[in-house]
Amino acid sequence: MTENKKLRKAVFPVAGLGTRFLPATKAVPKEMLTVVDKPVIQYVVDEAAEAGIEHFVFVTGRGKGVIEDYFDIQYELEQTLKSRNKNAELTLLAGILPKAGTASFTRQQEPLGLGHAVWCARDIVGNEPFAVLLPDMIMSGGGGCLKGMVELYNQAGGNIIAVEECAPELAHRYGIVAPGDKIGEGFRITAMVEKPAKGTQPSNYFINGRYILQPEIFNLLETQERGAGNEIQLTDSMLKLLKQQDFTAYPFRGVTYDTGAKDGFILANVAYALEREDIRPTVEAQLKAMIAALK
Ligand code: UTP
Repeated sequence: MTENKKLRKAVFPVAGLGTRFLPATKAVPKEMLTVVDKPVIQYVVDEAAEAGIEHFVFVTGRGKGVIEDYFDIQYELEQTLKSRNKNAELTLLAGILPKAGTASFTRQQEPLGLGHAVWCARDIVGNEPFAVLLPDMIMSGGGGCLKGMVELYNQAGGNIIAVEECAPELAHRYGIVAPGDKIGEGFRITAMVEKPAKGTQPSNYFINGRYILQPEIFNLLETQERGAGNEIQLTDSMLKLLKQQDFTAYPFRGVTYDTGAKDGFILANVAYALEREDIRPTVEAQLKAMIAALK
């Protein structure tokens, strides 16, 4: 059994091209598109902070500098707000600022794949377990996805992967895990298949974009050849690590929005708008009217 070290660091790979969201992502990183009034990345960082993460590692790329600026002081803006006594806005900005020294940024010079982006964080992470959060997936409810994973990690150790159930006919689109013995809220993973051929999937549990990994994954990523889509895939190295270490699945019971896809992004906006007392009445009334008009 792998040593059960405390989880302190999380990696956010934000270096992808976001081609599914062009033309918006030509000049704006998809992680900075807003869901109601916060950029997508803020929801994901909040999820990590609520799970007890102390150090936030961003793997950025070309054109993503605005993410670094977002998590920094904006001196001129703050001075202007102060001079206008905009105290509520100042408090809001202070709330999103990471404590000094708790955010690190490194750059993936070429978008060679998710596995390569994670590998770029190896020196900042060092020899300890770390979380990976895909920054375009917003997890809502369910008590916090990473928080639930940390509880399972404290029990099971090793590597933890969050999963969700999909309709059987959609399994060929995802990374799918094969279930073994039950452990607490989750179950051991006995195998993983990336995009199984239709009807061959070992279960309907797909990998939803949250991981707790042991640092040995970096050695495997280092020698990793390109896989599907000619990219260095994280799943390929996890498959190799599965032969050496335990992997446990955490079934997430909330709702996931894939904001890197147009429909997921719109749905996230609608869902979060309906949770907001200030705008819910207008949004709800107009949505109902729009839907009624369709019939
Ligand atoms: P995706 O495939 O969802 O992101 O990768 P993408 O490549 O940006 O999107 P599309 O498909 O072109 O629309 C999953 C995550 O991995 C990151 C992405 O930023 C995303 O959060 N990623 C992917 C990197 O950081 N580097 C890469 O080379 C590839």
